[in-house]
Amino acid sequence: MTAIDAMTEADLEAAIDIDLEAFVPSELGAGAEDPRVVRERSLREELVRPWARLRAARDEAGRLVGYALFWHVLDEVQLLNVAVAIPSRRQGIGRALMNDLLSYARGHAVTRILLEVRASNTPAIALYESQGFTRFNIRPRYYADDEDAVEMLRTL
Ligand SMILES: CC(C)(COP(=O)(O)OP(=O)(O)OC[C@H]1O[C@@H](n2cnc3c(N)ncnc32)[C@H](O)[C@@H]1OP(=O)(O)O)[C@@H](O)C(=O)NCCC(=O)NCCS
Repeated sequence: MTAIDAMTEADLEAAIDIDLEAFVPSELGAGAEDPRVVRERSLREELVRPWARLRAARDEAGRLVGYALFWHVLDEVQLLNVAVAIPSRRQGIGRALMNDLLSYARGHAVTRILLEVRASNTPAIALYESQGFTRFNIRPRYYADDEDAVEMLRTL
């Protein structure tokens, strides 16, 4: 069973490592800048943003193996990121993070959860569909490299 709790500043380096192996620099919003610096700045902003929630998945030793970032505003949650370290994938950690999100949503009177995902991101789309999310829109050429975004929704 994966333990999920609040992410803290002490998890930042491990979270950045996970992001750097999961995403190409343009996906992390890095132009000419060092993606590590850009990601650290962004995650530090999220750690103090009042409506942001960062949830950490840990192994038995307490090491960060995945995390989820979402925003909660009124009765709506927007899932911005879920990422699992490559050696820890396909072990149910992504699903555990999604279950944690759903349990948060139920506990906070959230009525809908929204997300955007790259059309080619088969693993993530499969994870979201297995958690009751449905596709409701395509945003053509939404990403910087012109890939389409699939918008997905889960109502509660
Ligand atoms: C998407 C991601 C978070 C899934 O994490 P994970 O811990 O490997 O997922 P789980 O082991 O909990 O898998 C749960 C279900 O998702 C689906 N799934 C996960 N990885 C999959 C893959 N590579 N191919 C097909 N389906 C997949 C399956 O339905 C799986 O259930 P199963 O293992 O019983 O078949 C992980 O692949 C990742 O970090 N990707 C890079 C970051 C990313 O793209 N995030 C999403 C965009 S923000």
